[in-house]
Amino acid sequence: MKTLALGSDHAGWQLKGHLGRWLEHRGYTVIDLGCSSEESCDYPDYGRAVARAVLAGKASCGLVICGTGIGISIAANRVPGARAARCLNEYDARFARRHNDANILAIGSRVTGIGLAEAIVETFLTTEFEGGRHARRVAAIDGKEQERG
Ligand code: RB5
Repeated sequence: MKTLALGSDHAGWQLKGHLGRWLEHRGYTVIDLGCSSEESCDYPDYGRAVARAVLAGKASCGLVICGTGIGISIAANRVPGARAARCLNEYDARFARRHNDANILAIGSRVTGIGLAEAIVETFLTTEFEGGRHARRVAAIDGKEQERG
């Protein structure tokens, strides 16, 4: 079963708590890397912490949350090897996994309700990467060339 690293700023703290409990209830292991209250804090700290945990192999994927999901995804993506996708719906989540092999899901707590957030997380966690031509493109993101196929 997958282990997820979770991180948020103050805007995402409540949704992070909800989704963390929701995931544990479904048998996932959750590593909560903060923040730990609604006190104002800076999303780059938590976006980077989650990306580092994923890239270090401490978690199989990450979930990051801020108000829009944008700032924290940008921060996570500065860690080499991170592929954070800010998803607003299940279609985004499905193709972030199928085509982009996204390893971090970013959600905006101020733009996505709890029920939709759960559906996005579920889709992200249950959709496999398709590989093939998409593997070549994903490798090229990191400047790694592959045979055309
Ligand atoms: C915090 O007010 C807000 O700027 C942050 O949560 C996020 O939306 C940034 O992208």
